[in-house]
Amino acid sequence: MSLIAQRLTSSALARRVLNSSFAAALTTPHGVDRYVEMIDPLWSSTEIRAEVTEVERKTADSVTLTLRPNSLFNGFKAGQFVKLSVEIDGIRRTRCYSPANSQFRRDGQIELTIKVDPNGLVSPWLLANAKPGMIVQVSQAQGEFFIPLPHPRSILLISGGSGITPVMSMLRTLTERAYIGKVTFLHYSFTEDDVIYRKEIAEIEEKYEGIRIIRAYTNADNGDLQGFFSREHLVAADKHFAEAETFLCGPMPLMDGVRAVFEAEGISDRLHLEQFAAPTRTVATDEATGTLTFGASEVEVENNGQTILEQAEAAGLTPDYGCRIGICNTCVFKKDSGTTRNVLTGEIDSDEDVNIKTCISAPCGDVSIAL
Ligand code: FES
Repeated sequence: MSLIAQRLTSSALARRVLNSSFAAALTTPHGVDRYVEMIDPLWSSTEIRAEVTEVERKTADSVTLTLRPNSLFNGFKAGQFVKLSVEIDGIRRTRCYSPANSQFRRDGQIELTIKVDPNGLVSPWLLANAKPGMIVQVSQAQGEFFIPLPHPRSILLISGGSGITPVMSMLRTLTERAYIGKVTFLHYSFTEDDVIYRKEIAEIEEKYEGIRIIRAYTNADNGDLQGFFSREHLVAADKHFAEAETFLCGPMPLMDGVRAVFEAEGISDRLHLEQFAAPTRTVATDEATGTLTFGASEVEVENNGQTILEQAEAAGLTPDYGCRIGICNTCVFKKDSGTTRNVLTGEIDSDEDVNIKTCISAPCGDVSIAL
């Protein structure tokens, strides 16, 4: 984009003019965005667009994108996530990813490291197609997973696999802010080669005395710890773990394991967590009856008790989703009729013509949904 065009669309005055009803009237029916994006593809009066400025493959099954969002983006707190949308075969697809960079990065860019799910749609597409110059959409940052202010005096970070990204953001933010408390970082991966930020973590360990890194490998014995999470691992990482505020992100078995230990210790209130994969939960067998009808797709399936999103995917439909755990609202569709159960809370919903989150709703008997 030329410097002139950039100045034209980024100045506050230009933004006010382009957002005005006068400009809207002049550009009817296509709207201002359609015309201005020919000069600056990042421009939008309503949506946060971002340019991919760098693409890296740090490990065999991940892709790291650096994005320069337009001026509508309000920044994020380390640990929060954004919804990233890309158009694949003419359909906009949205997924949730946590920036891994410091929240104070000076150039305002955000770094998303995306673990590639071979059975997924968006991550393999990004691995194959992402390149500098591409324009994507992002949401404002969301989520309650961040380190509160004032910072606790002792922080324990636990992550597994690609769950490292929000935790890496916390680590980078803390080092950049010259945090003087104690930080312990326990990270799980299959082997050393699977640690996404391996080199940088080693540099942080070398540079900051107050930061202790513990590497746990489930499939190799050359780490500090070997095998899956246990109370023994927790004690080995930080014997004063009960006094720390703990921030956890990773795959479900790790999340469940840590949660169980904290519950048994009576310190669940000190555990803060982020998860991007919900366990497959089904309703009771006597509720897994009837027919699930996807009205807009004219598809019917026998209800098997899984969530509506899972049953739609099993039927060959490709509804959009983001977090799959009921926080981002990407998977919302209107329920025309029937009763559903929230698989996380157990709540029953028998209302008709209501929007429901299909990723956490399982049908109880006949259900019809406008999907
Ligand atoms: S996919 Fe995020 S709420 Fe369902």
